[in-house]
Amino acid sequence: MTVRLERRGAFAVLTLDRPEALNALSFAVLEEIGTRLDKIAGSDARALIVTGAGSKAFCAGADIKELRGRALTAQRRGIELGQQTFAKLDTLPMPSVAVINGYAFGGGLELALACTFRLATPNAKLGVPEIKLGLIPGYGGTQRLPRVIGEARALEMVMTGRTVEAEEAERIGLVSRIVEGDPVAAGIAFAESFAGFSLPVLGFARAAVQRALTVPLVEGLKIEADLATLAYQTQDAEEGMAAFVEKRPPRFQDA
Ligand code: CAA
Repeated sequence: MTVRLERRGAFAVLTLDRPEALNALSFAVLEEIGTRLDKIAGSDARALIVTGAGSKAFCAGADIKELRGRALTAQRRGIELGQQTFAKLDTLPMPSVAVINGYAFGGGLELALACTFRLATPNAKLGVPEIKLGLIPGYGGTQRLPRVIGEARALEMVMTGRTVEAEEAERIGLVSRIVEGDPVAAGIAFAESFAGFSLPVLGFARAAVQRALTVPLVEGLKIEADLATLAYQTQDAEEGMAAFVEKRPPRFQDA
């Protein structure tokens, strides 16, 4: 098994476990990620933590050895498999946190970009080096990277293939923060900062912010109005406001 799924308390932990190949994404690994994400989607986990086994790599990208000498139709299917697998993260009912614990190159960074949040350990090295292979990113990188760090920085990363160290990644907003110690524990500690809130309302918040970068402002404001109105209709909104007025902690029910 090259992708491990475990439960740690209220959280699901997905670990790419192919350290001898720096957790590279073979097509079999992509299929396994997809199967595991489907399972997580149907679970009651409050958040998903994604990380890589070993101390060197989160994930060194698509398995280059597997990519050579294939028909173009097969290449296209492979690209679509990667895109569709990572797109499952967009629609997971719970937020996802990538803890980048070493190299996150190519498809590895694209996996992290599809997560709701990205954290990095101090030894993290991030990049989209496909240009050095005569390729361009194909698992969502050219689309998600500019949405996260802006067009100019994304163009620089994609067209030079240069490596970004953890500190720069934090400065340019490619990761939210640098974390020390065990990557899974760090991911869980971060997830605990939102895990007690209402899951459906967290989903509205995530959907509203993510749509901000894909639609014109006037349409985005309408989406915000719709989702904010929907939040008022939840029992959790009633509970949250009642708890404030009664000066007690809220007891959210995900309803
Ligand atoms: N695919 C397949 N195998 C890989 C791999 C990859 N992406 N990255 C590393 N490995 C393998 C190496 O071949 C090596 O195995 P062998 O000893 O059997 O040859 C093992 O992992 C360890 O790697 P290195 O010896 O190279 O380790 P290093 O510490 O010297 O270098 C590295 C680390 C800088 C990350 C280097 O391995 C590297 O540059 N890897 C490729 C990174 C890359 O180009 N990623 C993009 C892939 S294309 C892509 O992802 C397209 C897309 O959009 C989806």
